[in-house]
Amino acid sequence: MNTEKILENLKKQLKTHNQTHILAFLDQLDAAQQENLLRQIQQLDFKKIDGWVANYVKNSTPPAIPAGFVPAPFYPSIPTNPAQETKYAKARELGRELISGGKVAAFVVAGGQGTRLGFDGPKGNFAISPVKNKTLFQIFAENIAAVSNKYHASCPWYIMTSPLNYAATLEILRSNNYYGLNKKDIFIFQQGTLPNFGFEGRVLMADKADIACSPDGHGGSLLALYKSGAVENMKKRGVEFISYFQVDNPLINIFDQLFIGLHALDRAQMSSKALIKTGPKEKLGNFCLVDGRVNVIEYSDLPDEMAEKKNPDGSLVFELGSIAIHIINTSFIERLNSKGFSLPLHKAIKKILHIDEKGKLIQPDQPNGVKLESFVFDALPLASNSIILETVRSEEFGPVKNATGVDSAETARQMIIARAARWLESAGVNIPRKPDGSVDCVIEIASSFAVEKEDIQGKLAQVPQIKAGDKIYLA
Ligand code: UTP
Repeated sequence: MNTEKILENLKKQLKTHNQTHILAFLDQLDAAQQENLLRQIQQLDFKKIDGWVANYVKNSTPPAIPAGFVPAPFYPSIPTNPAQETKYAKARELGRELISGGKVAAFVVAGGQGTRLGFDGPKGNFAISPVKNKTLFQIFAENIAAVSNKYHASCPWYIMTSPLNYAATLEILRSNNYYGLNKKDIFIFQQGTLPNFGFEGRVLMADKADIACSPDGHGGSLLALYKSGAVENMKKRGVEFISYFQVDNPLINIFDQLFIGLHALDRAQMSSKALIKTGPKEKLGNFCLVDGRVNVIEYSDLPDEMAEKKNPDGSLVFELGSIAIHIINTSFIERLNSKGFSLPLHKAIKKILHIDEKGKLIQPDQPNGVKLESFVFDALPLASNSIILETVRSEEFGPVKNATGVDSAETARQMIIARAARWLESAGVNIPRKPDGSVDCVIEIASSFAVEKEDIQGKLAQVPQIKAGDKIYLA
């Protein structure tokens, strides 16, 4: 079809779907820009867009929560009876076997925009470690290297970026020489995007030649892993299990023998780690069971009376919070994609840079539009088997979301130090503490020194005496 014919068709389509403004500045664009814009329009599915506008953009009723949900069962962090003890030991053994056999891959979702942190560039390049100022990417890379070393396996690392931070992420990895990892063990790919909308349902334009888009959410990973060839690559390598984690959690235990082992023993397809919430309204999704399947109900959607409901022992009925740590089978992702699947979208009202009808750039200081995203936990009900393992917050969850305050770089750094102190103390090392119990020194343990606390015992000879105010780095 020639360009004129294509253009005519697109104009008709835009008119039918009330989006003619997209081509308003076509005449002012050069040939390459025109071609680029037409390509972007051709990639849009306007029938779907009409649905999104009606169901999310213009609709302000909160999503219906599933009927008849009950708290989801889970494996406690510490086994509570002899049968469970035996099962955990068996799971650890199986987990070790699977890691050693190269059946487990690390997978970080790093396509987010990190607006709350306000850091310039991919969040993975944010420096967080308390002594050496290592970035999040470096911490993960060193962990993967140490695990590969410990298990004599080559553990591959898959990194999801978005079209907005793909080039920058590649450059960070390249210029840091892949943090010592073998380049062939790293697979970097891009997730999809979704258009941004004005409140009245118009697709927003970033400039005269580009539609304003944002990454399609961490749920987009389930599509992108497949489309990008990452799953195919995993299959060639013999990877069966994907250890999914977020780029902002420096405490992540990527290759957790117990979690991987329990997941595999129970023949699960997608599993999760959970925390006991600090209170009824902690901003974590709630693990529930609906018709026998695990679902996550967002904190904002769980009615107050449910959130506050207590068991006779005083614990919350809905006590399990989701922390975005999962094991996902490659075969599950293949099955979802081969059948065609879609996750529900979630609406976020945000400040969106765009041009108005006159072509003037709008830099909003108040939220002015809608971004749509899918969430990875919405795939949990699609799994016929799914386990939940409780973990301990101070050991494994220190998200760097905000510049200051809760879940910030400062709280994550303190957690890194506190965990290192506990690990050393558990091996008998004396750690200086202030009268209030907090650690009175700065400690950083590299993964090359210890991947888990049990590794420390064999290295005690390398641990110096630690005095108040010391800065200690163990590698
Ligand atoms: P967040 O929900 O914290 O979003 O992402 P964000 O975009 O990083 O940060 P804010 O909300 O703008 O401050 C949780 C994890 O999911 C990844 C992020 O990179 C992070 O690891 N993510 C999020 C994606 O990979 N893609 C997305 O589209 C969204």
